[in-house]
Amino acid sequence: MELEPKDFEQEFTTMWSFPDRGTWATHSGSDWRGNWSPYVPRNLILKYSKPGDVVLDCFIGGGTTAVEAKLLARNCIGVDINPKAIELAKQKVKFKVDSHDREPVLMVEDARNLHFVKDNSVDLVCSHPPYADAIKYSKAIPGDLSRLPVKSFLEEMRQVAVENYRVLKPGRYCAVLIGDKREKRRVVPLGMMVMRVYLRAGFVLKEIIIKAQHNCRMDSKWVKKAKELNFLLLGHEYLPVFEKPAGKGDE
Ligand SMILES: C[S@@+](CC[C@H](N)C(=O)[O-])C[C@H]1O[C@@H](n2cnc3c(N)ncnc32)[C@H](O)[C@@H]1O
Repeated sequence: MELEPKDFEQEFTTMWSFPDRGTWATHSGSDWRGNWSPYVPRNLILKYSKPGDVVLDCFIGGGTTAVEAKLLARNCIGVDINPKAIELAKQKVKFKVDSHDREPVLMVEDARNLHFVKDNSVDLVCSHPPYADAIKYSKAIPGDLSRLPVKSFLEEMRQVAVENYRVLKPGRYCAVLIGDKREKRRVVPLGMMVMRVYLRAGFVLKEIIIKAQHNCRMDSKWVKKAKELNFLLLGHEYLPVFEKPAGKGDE
């Protein structure tokens, strides 16, 4: 098993695009619907943390971030409300690395209440919430934010942002991948709306990265529909990187 991507180079602009997604280690694009390309957490972890740091992903899904954190010798806390996600993530991190014995801690919990994580204890948050109800991850799990329409999704994301802020160390970063939605041929700027929620929780913006989207929506059925109805297929997502400002005394 290849544990590293071939010819990997870290991103250095605000425009990221990974057409081949990445299939090193246990990664696969098809295990958990809407999972992110492992190039995303790899870049974030390398840029904003160091070996031994604590990385939190509170929407861990199929475990992509946990696999990358383990490969890169970071401690990982991975949370998901869906037991099937945690089951899969636990399978995904079952491989050996020679350099260390750090194992990700993976739990069925709610991103809105990280009671098991101490204040100011996390070095990096990188997470990928549902895009409101664009993909529904469960039919009936209470607290599953993917069951909520935009308005109530944003209300619940406020609590996620507050919790992310509480657990992050001052001066450290919180990256969130979020895309827009199209409803009745009109764009709902979910990316901007979620950014506002995080800013209101006290974060400041370090970067806004645009990530090119390479997904099934680009298949011929959707291309045909977009041409017929005269709308553009959403081809990008936002990856804002927020900073928890360092207060007096904690620099
Ligand atoms: C876009 S997916 C994350 C995919 C992940 N990045 C991966 O690579 O597999 C969003 C995840 O959020 C989870 N989720 C929804 N509501 C949640 C909540 N309140 N707390 C934690 N996880 C939640 C869903 O079960 C789903 O797995």
